Amino acid sequence: MQVTWRSPSNIAIIKYWGKHGNQLPNNASLSLTLSNASTETSLKLLRKRSKKEIEVDFRFEGEKNPAFAEKITTYITSLHKEMSWLSTHRLQIHSSNSFPHSAGIASSASSMSALALCLLSTDVMQGRKLKPEQFFSVAGNYARLGSGSACRSVFPGFALWGKTDLIETASDKTAIPFPENYHPDFEEMQDSILIVHAGEKPVSSRAGHALMRTHSMADQRYANAHTRLKTLIQVLRSGDWETFCSITEAEALELHALMMTSDPSYILMRPNTLAIIEKIRHFRADTKIPLCFTLDAGPNVHVLYPWFVKKEVRNFIQSELLEFCAKKKVIYDQMGRGPVQVME
Ligand code: DP6
Repeated sequence: MQVTWRSPSNIAIIKYWGKHGNQLPNNASLSLTLSNASTETSLKLLRKRSKKEIEVDFRFEGEKNPAFAEKITTYITSLHKEMSWLSTHRLQIHSSNSFPHSAGIASSASSMSALALCLLSTDVMQGRKLKPEQFFSVAGNYARLGSGSACRSVFPGFALWGKTDLIETASDKTAIPFPENYHPDFEEMQDSILIVHAGEKPVSSRAGHALMRTHSMADQRYANAHTRLKTLIQVLRSGDWETFCSITEAEALELHALMMTSDPSYILMRPNTLAIIEKIRHFRADTKIPLCFTLDAGPNVHVLYPWFVKKEVRNFIQSELLEFCAKKKVIYDQMGRGPVQVME
């Protein structure tokens, strides 16, 4: 028995930073699901060879990878009470990314969502009763347990994760596709990922989230996220790119400000990150073309812009921003349609 899923990465507009309990977010976040940056994972059930409770044979891009294997084994062990077949088979899991691992773009969202989708598909084949319309929501719940941001990757377009009084159906347990009726000017939103530095991050997301527990600005941060989310929802419906840009940049800079002012403190931007940010702001002021930047917990810059200025922005990236990128590397991506099951 084998299943394969290809699942995309996502980039948060409203950031998830800070969590409690078993992978529950301290604020609601909203992201754009990407198209090209994705992970393809297959799960095959084989006859057990050892007496180990959970037997995982994991390969990443064809090679054994003990660090990933350990993370996956811990995750699967936490699920085996719900899915008893996890301990009665040897699990062969093969995974590969559409982007080079060394590019330094976060892959936990795409990899954990792809794995969660494989686990849930197999569970259904093993007899679990699940209404088809519940499949992605339940998959999101399992993805969240592997990596919080991964639950947003199971939906196309925009996804929202975390309880908020702004949306009745929002939940801490899984994401929802939201908003579904956004303005056509946000359709096919472009995301060009400028690789400023491709190395390992100096702080894991898990350690980063933990810093929020004692952060002196934590309460203000969660209040800001709530206010910005409220405005963003209106903006996505009305097509107001200008306000979209100011919210998106404020969120990215606040995330980094929180890291800079935590104890210990981390500066994850590089000089070239700031150089790119300045160039983007000047270009926007000079041309009035809507474009903005966002960052995840690292130095690389995501440039967001509408499809109707694609030509102008790509020319700008090629002529003015490439010199700040490691090996002139840019990944051109855009809003995506969500995960797909790959048929054997
Ligand atoms: C800065 O989802 O990677 O990208 O739940 O510990 O796996 P874990 O964290 P993770 O955190 C993502 C943080 C972020 C913002 C975001 O994606 O919302």
